[in-house]
Amino acid sequence: MTTVTPPTPTADAIAEPWASEQTITCRDDRVGRRAVIAIDDTTLGPGFGGVRYRAYPSTEAAAREAQRLAAAMTLKHALAELPYGGAKSVVVLDGPVPAPSSPERRALFARFGEMVARTAGTYIPGVDMGTLLEDMQTIRDDGGARAFCDEVSPSPFTARGVYAAMRAAAVHEHGEGGLDGLHVVVQGVGSVGEEVARLAHRDGARVTVADIDTARAQALATELGGQTVATQAAPFAEADVFAPCAVARVVTREAIPRIRARIIAGAANDTLDTPDCAEALRAAGITYVPDFVANAGGVIQVHGGVAGWSDAETLAAVDRIGTRVGELLETADTEGITPLEAALRRADAALGRTVAR
Ligand code: NAI
Repeated sequence: MTTVTPPTPTADAIAEPWASEQTITCRDDRVGRRAVIAIDDTTLGPGFGGVRYRAYPSTEAAAREAQRLAAAMTLKHALAELPYGGAKSVVVLDGPVPAPSSPERRALFARFGEMVARTAGTYIPGVDMGTLLEDMQTIRDDGGARAFCDEVSPSPFTARGVYAAMRAAAVHEHGEGGLDGLHVVVQGVGSVGEEVARLAHRDGARVTVADIDTARAQALATELGGQTVATQAAPFAEADVFAPCAVARVVTREAIPRIRARIIAGAANDTLDTPDCAEALRAAGITYVPDFVANAGGVIQVHGGVAGWSDAETLAAVDRIGTRVGELLETADTEGITPLEAALRRADAALGRTVAR
């Protein structure tokens, strides 16, 4: 006999039901779970994107997040030249987080996996905020769905791609010396930011780091012979390069006049508070490398694992992020547009679409 835990009913709805190619709502009363799967675009292949597991204030907020993140995955895969569309799912946390390996957690992701299986391979889930490798294995083994559950952490590959992006932007601005002698500020030195700081340091940059975990920031600064800065002050430090590698929406219209760095390149998704920040950055003489271009190293590594690439092939594909950034910055200069617009145009061309923006 299963104990039924009905989810709290909500009266709100999906605000933009047509934002994605498909937006699928999933309900299971036995495990007391609601979820939204957003498949944004399958032009280039099945929609691949992580499963986010967290609480949301409303159905609308959950659906919006799934759709927005799915659209970003479409752009990321198109720019990275990967054979995937964009998708994302959110599983709504409704109570305490079930412990890893608990029967409760397993039942939840098994049922979610069955819902994913109904998409017949159109949606391929992976790990995202709040989900674990074991959840992907449950989706695959108990739910019967295809899931990407590579045991290799994508973070070092994401970091390598961010470094390649940062370096390409520095070469574009300053010539072949790359990061040598430049001052790089990294905000958030977790699994990606720490490695970005190390790579920049190895390339001759002076590195300053910021993290809410001040002990972690201090230890890294000591190791690299650099400094620390308060997290809130990081975007405004006297620097050449600012690398946001922690939270979203660090670059706001209000913040831009105070940013001293001439290059912004980092891992954090949704770095710009609003799309019009891209034009404001250009007007302020700041080169912004779009986050979905710079942080694609992780998905490239996942695909390399699926496609059976050698380590050398995967690393070369990650390093091509740098080449791509160089090309986008060239295009932006030549056409008098922002690097974001150049990236969106390139994605649209790959997707064979014209989007009125
Ligand atoms: P993480 O959780 O390992 O590290 C984040 C770090 O930022 C932690 O050290 C945390 O203490 C710190 N932090 C949190 N809030 C902060 C704040 N307000 N100011 C300064 N530091 C703060 O996360 P991870 O994996 O390094 O990811 C970093 C960013 O990159 C996230 O935005 C993530 O969504 C994005 N990203 C990560 C990818 C990956 O492969 N790990 C792939 C693509 C994007």
